[in-house]
Amino acid sequence: MRAAMQHEPGGVPRVENVDPPGPVDGAVLIEVTSVGLGAWDVVGAYREPIDFPCVVRGEGVGHADDGRRVYFGERSIRPFGGWAERTVVPAAEVWDVPDHIDDRTAITMGIAGTGALVPLEQADIQPGENVLVLGATGALGQIAVQLARVLNAGRVVGAARDRDSLDRLLDRGLVDAVAQVSGDDDVESLRAAAPDGYDVVLDIVYGEPFVAALKATRVGARLMSIGALAGPTATIGLGDLLYRTHTCVGTGQRPAAERRETWERLLHLAVTHDIAVDFVDYTLDQATEAWHAQTSSPHAKIVATV
Ligand SMILES: NC(=O)c1ccc[n+]([C@@H]2O[C@H](COP(=O)([O-])OP(=O)(O)OC[C@H]3O[C@@H](n4cnc5c(N)ncnc54)[C@H](OP(=O)(O)O)[C@@H]3O)[C@@H](O)[C@H]2O)c1
Repeated sequence: MRAAMQHEPGGVPRVENVDPPGPVDGAVLIEVTSVGLGAWDVVGAYREPIDFPCVVRGEGVGHADDGRRVYFGERSIRPFGGWAERTVVPAAEVWDVPDHIDDRTAITMGIAGTGALVPLEQADIQPGENVLVLGATGALGQIAVQLARVLNAGRVVGAARDRDSLDRLLDRGLVDAVAQVSGDDDVESLRAAAPDGYDVVLDIVYGEPFVAALKATRVGARLMSIGALAGPTATIGLGDLLYRTHTCVGTGQRPAAERRETWERLLHLAVTHDIAVDFVDYTLDQATEAWHAQTSSPHAKIVATV
């Protein structure tokens, strides 16, 4: 079968012919139809160490050997993964996709949707509160700004580096304001977008942008960090943190049943609230290009047909 193989940590994958998976007790063989790529794939932010070479893991949609149309998360049994014609996944991680849900929605509401919804719900947004999404122009961020409104936020602000993609958020009406965080006076830029300060921050970048966002919050703010695309460390002044709460949220290690329940709720929210994400489409044979696009911040969800 064709598969996008990665030969070392951080290595750029290339498509090769490899042996397909065979039956494994307690697992489901899947013919993959669509597969997604996210920032967690290219930075290797998986729950467990991975042996190389292996198929790029990814999350995807396909047909189980009994014919069911299913979603599977980035849990393929190694060395297999989603970026291949076939994969094999533990049965608890293989979830039926309702007929009215397309492949892209099923994939996008998986890791990205869960990474947005869980911390926003944990932040317990009160009606009318100001919400900042740091990293708002990516896949997870686009979902997060829309979910913040579903959860009754007042002013929703999106922040990132690229001006054009911030303007696109505004043009699509997904945010009330944007703030460019390019390293020059980020605190001022964030304060200008919400002069009263932020009550909730969903942070997928950490590092210096997080330090700036903290300074733009108001008393009682809840800051939820879920990613570190801008850097794994930040120097936080205790005075800035006073009367605020900072939480690091992980979703991937939760039990499969809990993640499935969240995904099913997200599918419902996506349809009911018409949650829209920009996509960029590839094929399995374009895995190398897709990988480069993800490492260059695509401002869209990358999905490939297989
Ligand atoms: N903790 C969890 O449970 C959990 C769950 C799901 C995902 N995650 C994490 O969430 C992250 C989001 O993934 P994704 O697929 O949505 O990523 P993505 O599509 O690549 O989007 C990344 C976003 O961050 C911005 N960004 C990147 N570097 C930045 C920097 N240095 N300063 C400011 N903004 C920056 C990008 O815009 P610009 O390039 O224009 O700045 C973009 O808005 C990943 O790190 C993933 O591991 C965590």
